[in-house]
Amino acid sequence: MHELLDSTLLMLSGKIGRRIKVVKEYDRTLPGIPAYPAELNQVWTNLVDNAVSAMNSAGGDGTLTVRTARDHDRLLVEFRDTGVGIPAEDRGRIFDPFFTTKPVGEGTGLGLDISWRIVVNKHHGTIQVESEPGDTRFQVLLPLTAVEEESA
Ligand SMILES: Nc1ncnc2c1ncn2[C@@H]1O[C@H](COP(=O)(O)OP(=O)(O)OP(=O)(O)O)[C@@H](O)[C@H]1O
Ligand SMILES: [Mg+2]
Repeated sequence: MHELLDSTLLMLSGKIGRRIKVVKEYDRTLPGIPAYPAELNQVWTNLVDNAVSAMNSAGGDGTLTVRTARDHDRLLVEFRDTGVGIPAEDRGRIFDPFFTTKPVGEGTGLGLDISWRIVVNKHHGTIQVESEPGDTRFQVLLPLTAVEEESA
């Protein structure tokens, strides 16, 4: 998981830029889990992309903290940003397909819809969000137990 996160962050280093500090808080004692790496890479990519946009909207400087931890029988991967935050009225809609607050031509509004499907349908996990201005956390919880083969 940490190798995957590192490679995603490296791939996105150009987009993240120099004004955003990346902090890694990895729990190195975590066990590996069965997962679909290419799909999870898509999830991490979208969460980082959204975090960068939110910090760009908040002036361009900020900190992205990527944290892993064990939560009972699940593995937590958290992306925390210091961006503008998600207004309360949008919180119920951010996972809807085509919901976007980005200018026309910039976002399709599919990132979180796809991410949700990958985490929930394909990995039997969940995504939770906590947000206030300056502190938004997307928490992906993945079961530590085997991913069932038949899921799609
Ligand atoms: N970290 C975040 N901080 C603030 N708002 C966010 C954050 N992540 C998502 N959002 C809000 O949720 C909306 C939907 O996100 P989603 O990733 O599904 O689509 P998008 O980023 O707008 O477009 P796409 O991902 O297709 O390029 C965003 O437009 C934004 O309003
Ligand atoms: Mg997005």
